Amino acid sequence: MTEPLRLGIAGLGTVGIGVVKIIRRHAALLEARTGRPVVITAVSARDANKDRGISLKDYAWETDPVALATRDDVDVFVELMGGHEGPAKLATEAALKSGKDVVTANKALLAIHGQALAELAEAKGRVIRFEAAVAGGIPVIKALTEGLAGNEISRVMGVMNGTCNYILTRMETAGLPYATVFKEADDLGYLEADPTLDVGGIDAGHKLTLLTAIAFGTKPSFDDVKLEGIQRIAIEDIRHAADMGYRIKLLGVAQRTGRGIEQRMTPCLVPANSPLGQLEGGTNMVVIEGDSINQVVLRGPGAGEGPTASAVMGDVLDIARGLRIPTFGVPATSLVEAPSAQTSLPAPYYVRLSLQDKPGALAKVAAVLGDAGVSIHRMRQYDHATAIAPVLIVTHKCTSTVLEEAIEGLSATGVVEGTPVALRIEEL
Ligand code: NAP
Ligand code: HSE
Repeated sequence: MTEPLRLGIAGLGTVGIGVVKIIRRHAALLEARTGRPVVITAVSARDANKDRGISLKDYAWETDPVALATRDDVDVFVELMGGHEGPAKLATEAALKSGKDVVTANKALLAIHGQALAELAEAKGRVIRFEAAVAGGIPVIKALTEGLAGNEISRVMGVMNGTCNYILTRMETAGLPYATVFKEADDLGYLEADPTLDVGGIDAGHKLTLLTAIAFGTKPSFDDVKLEGIQRIAIEDIRHAADMGYRIKLLGVAQRTGRGIEQRMTPCLVPANSPLGQLEGGTNMVVIEGDSINQVVLRGPGAGEGPTASAVMGDVLDIARGLRIPTFGVPATSLVEAPSAQTSLPAPYYVRLSLQDKPGALAKVAAVLGDAGVSIHRMRQYDHATAIAPVLIVTHKCTSTVLEEAIEGLSATGVVEGTPVALRIEEL
């Protein structure tokens, strides 16, 4: 009989248990597809007595994930614990050093230590696979490293955090404020243990870091991602954006500019009738643009037991079949240090301000924008019962630097209440 591929799984939470279930449910299918049995020999988690809904008695139990990662009867270490330091990092390093391939769903680990781990893997002749780390069940890593490998990629963008997309779309459909929907998301169990990872854009920023490295052949560099979360998005912005024909998304964009690689994960307006604009709830979408394909749009479930375990299994099966691709698509030692583009490419912006309703107020706003070099494309002042008028401006294209100067100037006019909200409009 052909040698089985033996897995050691560290982490038996949502994703880990999902993987165990697939391996049991589809044993014959997996063997038929790879030509060899895929089996679990050992598992690890913190609490050996926890009821996980399925029996694990057929597998050896290791309390220490490092001990699991270095067992002689493990060929592939499957890291599903999470966290960029501690046991996930130690066990992944130990696995590679002892000659095991690694499959992980851990975007934080790879966004921060990906370069060192990829170099270690390659020095040891091992592979690290991480399809589940980006956009859950969507095979976007495979799309970039394999199906689209013949393209020069110009831009990768997308909605990569389902929780944020759920919050933003629910605010719009139910007309509820951010704080209420955040609480709902918490009650539904959507939020990470540290919710800032979701709503602060960090989780999605980790994912973008990994896509950038593959798309542009650069060293993964999370510190170069400009991050802004969705916490300051008000229901008014969602309503006004809709009125102007847009939707607000926590949008990740990675692209090469004349000054280097631009990476940002920020709330942006996108046309409401575009694929990204129509993305509802916890679904993810990744848009890849390349010189031969023009544009490919991938859409699917970004999280949850089934979709994430499905992505883990795709990686496991590739290893079982003998497919060995460098971690970020090219040898780690050939990844280049990409200069970070300090300013974004020019774009139109949405600006919402609360304007004192008195003679000359709008003229002052127009003067500040004009002096800063920001040209107004569209403008609306909404009906209001108080002495403060909600005013919306859509600008022509300008740089973020120029816009930030203009926003500072607006605050100094004496006719604008509070700080204006400015959001980039992403052209698709
Ligand atoms: P989870 O449900 O919290 O499960 C984590 C598992 O790791 C638990 O079984 C836990 O043990 C175990 N663990 C934690 N620290 C450990 C330690 N020091 N030693 C041994 N085991 C330890 O997490 P998850 O949602 O499955 O996520 C796992 C990974 O997948 C993370 O990197 C996450 O970012 C990634 N991911 C998750 C999703 C998703 O939808 N959930 C989607 C994409 C990617 P106990 O059960 O005993 O506490
Ligand atoms: N917290 C993530 C999300 C799932 O909401 O998309 C894990 O990647």
